[in-house]
Amino acid sequence: MAALIDETGEMDALFFDQKPEFAWHEGLLIEGTTLQVPFMADAVTMVNPASKYSFLNYLHHQKRLYHFYFLESFHIPRREYNHYLQWVSKQLSSCRFSKRVIDVAEHSDGYEVSVEDVLTGHVETYYAKHVVLGMGSAPNLPEWTAAGSRNLYHSSEFLQRRNEALGETVTVIGSGQSAAEVFLELLKEQVTAGFKLNWLTRTDGFFPMEYSKLGLEHFSPDYTDYFYRLPRSLKDEVVSKQDSLYKGISADTIADIYDLLYERTIAGQKPDVQLLAKTAVKDISEYGGGLLLDCYHWEEGESFKVETDTVIAATGYKTLWPKAFSSLAHLMKWDEAGRPVISRNYQVEMHETRDEHKVFIQNGELHTHGVGAPDLGLGAYRNAVIINSIAGKTIFEIPEKNVFQHFGIQHLARKKQTV
Ligand SMILES: Cc1cc2nc3c(=O)[nH]c(=O)nc-3n(C[C@H](O)[C@H](O)[C@H](O)COP(=O)(O)OP(=O)(O)OC[C@H]3O[C@@H](n4cnc5c(N)ncnc54)[C@H](O)[C@@H]3O)c2cc1C
Ligand SMILES: NC(=O)c1ccc[n+]([C@@H]2O[C@H](COP(=O)([O-])OP(=O)(O)OC[C@H]3O[C@@H](n4cnc5c(N)ncnc54)[C@H](OP(=O)(O)O)[C@@H]3O)[C@@H](O)[C@H]2O)c1
Repeated sequence: MAALIDETGEMDALFFDQKPEFAWHEGLLIEGTTLQVPFMADAVTMVNPASKYSFLNYLHHQKRLYHFYFLESFHIPRREYNHYLQWVSKQLSSCRFSKRVIDVAEHSDGYEVSVEDVLTGHVETYYAKHVVLGMGSAPNLPEWTAAGSRNLYHSSEFLQRRNEALGETVTVIGSGQSAAEVFLELLKEQVTAGFKLNWLTRTDGFFPMEYSKLGLEHFSPDYTDYFYRLPRSLKDEVVSKQDSLYKGISADTIADIYDLLYERTIAGQKPDVQLLAKTAVKDISEYGGGLLLDCYHWEEGESFKVETDTVIAATGYKTLWPKAFSSLAHLMKWDEAGRPVISRNYQVEMHETRDEHKVFIQNGELHTHGVGAPDLGLGAYRNAVIINSIAGKTIFEIPEKNVFQHFGIQHLARKKQTV
């Protein structure tokens, strides 16, 4: 949003982030891992390909255009995507880092935003006509981890903690992309480090994420339109059946893991590795200097224990409604499950119409807008919709038909046609 607004010259905006500088999931910027969407999911290209903040312009400035040209890959390294976004944010004076938003409260002219400087503790107040919340998600650690253990941590901390001693047995929990990438790294390390490696997941199997061309069309403005129109009562059910669209492992990572396991079993070698799906970890306790996991194989209906020294919980992320915004809670409409009601243009619905003073949310709208909510390929589009709504005019053109398929039959009604 900061990059798009900068080139419009239409509005004043400030963006606060509590981190010292831009950093995109820094604990998982593992060498060799790539973005799961094409590089065009940069900050601007999908709505303004002529922008100076495009990934291609970044490459030009890095003198890497020919390298990228010969690379012939749409899927760029995650480390490069992070570096690209740092390059963008450093050019934007509207981006303020080490600034934590601690309160957003109603004000006669809009909103009063209290911002704490993380380094000095000093709090400043800003007044905004409109507010956009894009606070992301937080690591989702199961309840049984609450007691805490020095040797248990979430996958989001993997790189910061990977040099710590792992002990004789390491257990990775989960079978999303994070777990697979962590497992692969540990598998590579196992030959020299010599630990036993467990990979447990509650999911039905170590399954791939959908990545076929027509399947990917679900991550489009068109599918978002369709999903948005569905009755609220149906939406949760639809999302619950779409795990394969946004959870699971990329087929390439599965292949890398499989190939390495194959290599490690040449000539009768038996790597000390255990992969087990349909297994929910239910509890953890200290045991003989290590840890003991209470596990349950839900298909066979049997409980069992796993001894381990280190646990890396790749158990996903959860959306938070941060404390910082609780002052707005009474103004907002909430659904029966306690989630904000969000309009098609990502505007949080309020009890009184406050069109002069809008609040928008990004990546908190899975329940209203569907699986594309966290998707990077829709980021520029989401921001374009919000910027147009704030401006009250079309600053960015939003094409209507972006995919080959139809997701519903509304077009038939419109054209009074039959199949
Ligand atoms: C490891 C990983 C890899 C992913 N890879 C892909 C991918 O390849 N393709 C894809 O489409 N999606 C991917 N996703 C999903 C999604 O695109 C990312 O999660 C994306 O970073 C979401 O962006 P965001 O801005 O909503 O949240 P975040 O990136 O989490 O950013 C939120 C920011 O808000 C800041 N913040 C929070 N609260 C406050 C506060 N009170 N005050 C100030 N600042 C605050 C945080 O410091 C943070 O910088 C990935 C997710 C993960 C976890
Ligand atoms: N290369 C990349 O760009 C990249 C890298 C990492 C992540 N990501 C993205 O980031 C998002 C989050 O991915 P993620 O891998 O962190 O999380 P995730 O996809 O939500 O996976 C979490 C996993 O943990 C399992 N789990 C949770 N609690 C458990 C328990 N108590 N016992 C056993 N298993 C348990 C879940 O099982 P259930 O299925 O039963 O819930 C699931 O398999 C995804 O959209 C992913 O695509 C992308």
